[in-house]
Amino acid sequence: MDIRLLRPSDIPHVQQANITNLPENYFFKYYMYHALSWPQLSYVAVDVSRPKKTPYDPPKVVGYVLAKMEEEPADGVQHGHITSLSVMRTHRRLGLAEKLMRQSQRAMFETYGAHYVSLHVRMSNTAALHLYRDTLGFKVDKIEPKYYADGEDAYSMKMDLSYFREEAESSEDDAEAVDEGDEVGSAGKKGEGEAKKGKGKKRKVKVGRGLGVGELVERNESVKP
Ligand SMILES: CC(C)(COP(=O)(O)OP(=O)(O)OC[C@H]1O[C@@H](n2cnc3c(N)ncnc32)[C@H](O)[C@@H]1OP(=O)(O)O)[C@@H](O)C(=O)NCCC(=O)NCCS
Repeated sequence: MDIRLLRPSDIPHVQQANITNLPENYFFKYYMYHALSWPQLSYVAVDVSRPKKTPYDPPKVVGYVLAKMEEEPADGVQHGHITSLSVMRTHRRLGLAEKLMRQSQRAMFETYGAHYVSLHVRMSNTAALHLYRDTLGFKVDKIEPKYYADGEDAYSMKMDLSYFREEAESSEDDAEAVDEGDEVGSAGKKGEGEAKKGKGKKRKVKVGRGLGVGELVERNESVKP
């Protein structure tokens, strides 16, 4: 299984998966708008287990996440939004949706500095609710009555992305602490002298990561709608 960025040429296959799996469907141009405006945020899961017979065989798209940045956030905070996510029935419970979501969330933070990610989910969608709340750590922000065309209410959910910031800071600290060897030439001689006198600069080095993904999931499991 290959999880990679959505390409414009994948769009017909993504659209087919969307129509098969969800009642919320979009025009081709809406997918294109995502792919061209935020090319780093949408991903596809492609089944590559069977070799292509010809170079023209279409990719077997078995899952996708379509995501964007909120253009005019009401709260003024830069954040991402999941427009649509689905995995074909034949490929469910393999962890694909979780991986697609995590890839997109990371890209939202790394590319656009997103502070959080938001989405809507039908209140009756047990599988998606489990994924968002229990596996990924989303929290219910509010209920939006009659959000869907058929009158069903939606949970509006959010997930904080600050753990990526903490992770980035912790790896910056780690990088600073890396021993890159002694300076050479006159600079090196100066350092040598200081070291001999016991004046060499010492840094505290952090060991391990304070915030693994496992810890994050546990931390967010406590809140249930
Ligand atoms: C929701 C959906 C995307 C999940 O895709 P998936 O690839 O099967 O999900 P994953 O394998 O990554 O599952 C991750 C976790 O989600 C939860 N989950 C997924 N399917 C579930 C189900 N049928 N029942 C309960 N929990 C489920 C579990 O917590 C699971 O972790 P586990 O397998 O370790 O127990 C998929 O069922 C789907 O496409 N549904 C139809 C479209 C849809 O509802 N999209 C969401 C719109 S908001």
